[in-house]
Amino acid sequence: MRAVVQDVYGPPEVLRVEESERPVPGPGEVLLKVHAAGVDQGVWHLMTGRPHLLRALGFGLRAPKTRTPGQDAAGRVTAVGPGVSALRPGDEVYGTCSGAFAEYARARADRLAPRPARLTAEQAAAVPVSACTALQALRDRGRLAPGQSVLVLGAAGGVGSYAVQLAKALGAGRVTGTCRPAKADLVRFLGADEVLDHT
Ligand SMILES: NC(=O)c1ccc[n+]([C@@H]2O[C@H](COP(=O)([O-])OP(=O)(O)OC[C@H]3O[C@@H](n4cnc5c(N)ncnc54)[C@H](OP(=O)(O)O)[C@@H]3O)[C@@H](O)[C@H]2O)c1
Repeated sequence: MRAVVQDVYGPPEVLRVEESERPVPGPGEVLLKVHAAGVDQGVWHLMTGRPHLLRALGFGLRAPKTRTPGQDAAGRVTAVGPGVSALRPGDEVYGTCSGAFAEYARARADRLAPRPARLTAEQAAAVPVSACTALQALRDRGRLAPGQSVLVLGAAGGVGSYAVQLAKALGAGRVTGTCRPAKADLVRFLGADEVLDHT
């Protein structure tokens, strides 16, 4: 299969496309035919190896342990590993995986969900990491209660744009977003009650 690979940390120029072995799903995993891959902020961190602390956290001290970047994907299940019963070949899913920037990627079955029919693969692949980060921040860490006010810094960014929408959906009373002026209309469109210019 064709895959984007990198052997060293660095700028986008370290990425190249080459023929690679198709991954084999392990226990609890499935193999995805990738239809669309998302680019969240973490892809940049893992490509550049910055901040340096992340290299010591198990991602590879001198070079990335995972040669193919990409964590967000939407695609079709083509094979299931041992112990997987919730998904079957042919299922259209989206979620996080290992090595999304390839024709096929391995993914944990419990990190995938059925792709809603109203979302294209490209739309679904833009959701997992950024939206789950926003959801965990608001619901799990922030314990947002209905009626509370929320301030979203970077409200036009990958995480922030979901945070504005999720805060409203979770019943926040007033949502304020910060962004640069060119993005103010977008942040209002996403549901913010007030927009502040962070410049
Ligand atoms: N822990 C996790 O699992 C996890 C997952 C995802 C992301 N993150 C982290 O969450 C952060 C946001 O990620 P993201 O994907 O949303 O990034 P992003 O798409 O690049 O958005 C970041 C936003 O921050 C705003 N910003 C930049 N500099 C600013 C400043 N000096 N003052 C105020 N706002 C500023 C930008 O707003 P304007 O463009 O409007 O200027 C931009 O929209 C990153 O630090 C990322 O590493 C963590």
